[in-house]
Amino acid sequence: MKPAVQMIIAPDHRLPVGESRTTADLISDRPRPLYTRSVMPFPAVVLPFAFLWIAATTVAYGVEGSVPDSKGNAPATAPEWVFPTNTPAPGDAPVHDPTTPLHVPGSRATYTEAQLADRFSAPGWFPRSHSAMPEIVAYGRKPDIYACGYCHTPAGQGRPENASLAGLPAPYIIQQVADFKSGARRSASPGSFGPVDLMISLAAHATDAEVASAAAYFSQQHPLPRVRVVESDRVPRSRVVGWVYAAVPGGADEPLGDRLLEFAPDPARHEERDDAMKYVTYVPRGSLQRGRAIAMNGLSGPTTACVTCHGNTLQGVGLVPRIAGRSPTYLIRQLFAFRNGVRTGSNGQPMLPVVAGLTTRGMIDVVAYAGSLRP
Ligand code: HEC
Ligand code: HEC
Repeated sequence: MKPAVQMIIAPDHRLPVGESRTTADLISDRPRPLYTRSVMPFPAVVLPFAFLWIAATTVAYGVEGSVPDSKGNAPATAPEWVFPTNTPAPGDAPVHDPTTPLHVPGSRATYTEAQLADRFSAPGWFPRSHSAMPEIVAYGRKPDIYACGYCHTPAGQGRPENASLAGLPAPYIIQQVADFKSGARRSASPGSFGPVDLMISLAAHATDAEVASAAAYFSQQHPLPRVRVVESDRVPRSRVVGWVYAAVPGGADEPLGDRLLEFAPDPARHEERDDAMKYVTYVPRGSLQRGRAIAMNGLSGPTTACVTCHGNTLQGVGLVPRIAGRSPTYLIRQLFAFRNGVRTGSNGQPMLPVVAGLTTRGMIDVVAYAGSLRP
């Protein structure tokens, strides 16, 4: 089934599949001013998006048919809700003075909006939460490589639209960057998805020495709790802010259905790249228990049980990465990527029989469980 939700994709934020650009206008993690701090222009601006979103979610339910089956049918798409795409900046959003100093809770640092928009500098709200960053992590290299720490945050805690890197084995990090570069690792997104396009583009430009220094650094950082998983029948009505969901002001909600939606509880802190904020992931009731059963026992015996390879507490073993306490959104994107044949690196081959048997619902359950564990 070709999802009808394609209709809501803002054309200015999407590119044809496979196309990528490095220019700043391709994608902005912060495509508009930090107007979330002030009164939202509601309902004039929000309501049309809310309406489109309701229409989209109505179609998005029951997208099971949009993924290939275990018999190797043609790769299709992951559901739209796995890839929240920035809605265009409302023309009448209040513009803040980009020189106003901004703060986040618990940090004495200040950054202006203009500084926070500079992708060649990773904003360090909590300098004591990590060791000294190598050049490529703190500043990247102009013009092609944004600072790794800008997207992944300085301590590698990551954000839902990218990936946490803290504590992953250095050789694993190096191999993944090589896979992005060779084309063995692409996005499961139905269309282009800006953050991953940029990751792929910069992987092509980074030297072996730069990747090695970033990998050594991130492997030594300590992952912190970054997400709270909440079972619920209903979910706040949402808009998209910086590639994650945020509640539409006003308190309205809607049925969650068979979806997993990760929210920034404070959209301003998300846009300020505050890496101490915990995201909230809504999952259907019963997900954690069902997910635990899949993780412990597998769908078709112990060879497909996650604990067999990722370790009893899913903390990772050797080069098999940690999946405990990571963004469920990130994790489910990867399950779709393995399943849809866009993550084909040779080290990932053991994952193929695992995902072949997983329905979308099973994926939601098991990533909900993994995300709920201590990192
Ligand atoms: C523009 C934002 C951005 C920048 C800058 C960036 N990344 Fe990424 N990175 C991403 C995104 C998005 C993903 C998730 C890809 C996916 O979903 O498959 C990712 C994923 C990764 C992964 C895979 C993690 C895993 O668990 O498999 C590694 C490793 C990585 N990045 C390393 C780096 C390094 C090293 C740098 C700096 C040289 C860097 N990234 C800079 C956006 C970025
Ligand atoms: C037979 C061994 C094996 C089993 C069983 C297994 N995995 Fe994996 N998994 C791997 C390996 C190896 C990788 C690393 C792939 C790579 O290097 O690209 C991986 C990677 C992943 C990733 C991507 C992580 C990242 O950082 O990008 C996710 C998500 C994942 N596994 C989830 C699961 C879940 C959920 C289960 C259980 C339903 C599971 N795995 C069962 C071996 C396994």
